[in-house]
Amino acid sequence: MINTQKIWMDGKLVDHDDAKIHVLSHVIHYGSGFFEGIRSYDTPKGAAIFRLDEHIKRLFDSCKIYRTEVPFTEEEVKDGIMEVLKANNLKGSYIRPLIYRGYAQLGVNPLTCPVNVMVSAWEWGAYLGEEALKYGIKAQTSSWRRLAPNTMPTMAKASGNYLSSQLIKMEALENGYDEGIALDYQGNVSEGSGENLFAIRDGVIYTPTITASALVGITRDSIIKIAEYLGYKIVEQNIPREFLYVADEIFLTGTAAEVTPVSFIDGIKIGKGERGPVTEKIQDLYFKIVRGEFTLDENWLTFIK
Ligand SMILES: Cc1ncc(COP(=O)(O)O)c(C=O)c1O
Repeated sequence: MINTQKIWMDGKLVDHDDAKIHVLSHVIHYGSGFFEGIRSYDTPKGAAIFRLDEHIKRLFDSCKIYRTEVPFTEEEVKDGIMEVLKANNLKGSYIRPLIYRGYAQLGVNPLTCPVNVMVSAWEWGAYLGEEALKYGIKAQTSSWRRLAPNTMPTMAKASGNYLSSQLIKMEALENGYDEGIALDYQGNVSEGSGENLFAIRDGVIYTPTITASALVGITRDSIIKIAEYLGYKIVEQNIPREFLYVADEIFLTGTAAEVTPVSFIDGIKIGKGERGPVTEKIQDLYFKIVRGEFTLDENWLTFIK
């Protein structure tokens, strides 16, 4: 069970046990939900949410792509997040806002159903484990491809897209790996089941473009800016699968995964098979920034009022 007491539902805080929706809600049947994964961190100046504005913008962008009119403003959803963090007395947390099509009628057309909004948050550690942050994970190339551009929009962080992520994740775990890395419909590298990917070779940092069916990751954007600040050259381009095998270092990024090194892919050792020096430098600065120990852009932290 998720350990949290109060959940924000359509503008009101409700008890954990009362935060329920009807089984005939559209979202359950047809995947019509749009969500974010956001983290707050305990900083020397108090608890702060990392890149709240960008997350809420992406949430509303996801809704726009699916013609979903949100009955709350961006500011009201941000206030809801603040309320949830305060009501649950959270400092370091994972925050989950979800906008979804609720219950009225049941058919494929979502436009006949109401739009509901919820926000929950809870304490959560390292997504792939503390050890993974230090020593790296073992990944496999998934046999599942990411969604092709003219099938489902990957710029939207939509609940339905995560059926693809679930197939990638389950296959990787079944095969004894920590994570799966999917190729796009053309066979180029796309992303992990819940993370963007960076590969380093000869001091240059490469990452797939978002046209490779990868989510427009907010951590991805932060890492690009951090790497540029550190003086690295960043190249966004198509990446063939075998480039991963000959990379010096690889790491995955995401709000949940933060900056997680990859030490093996398909049983092939990446670099020395451990966290590489460039990854460590970027990871180190990333953690300093989210924990409020270093400022690259003062708009990146929103302090809990
Ligand atoms: C499929 C997928 N790709 C990438 C990411 C990383 O995105 P972000 O850095 O915004 O958390 C996520 C996490 O939400 C994801 O689910």
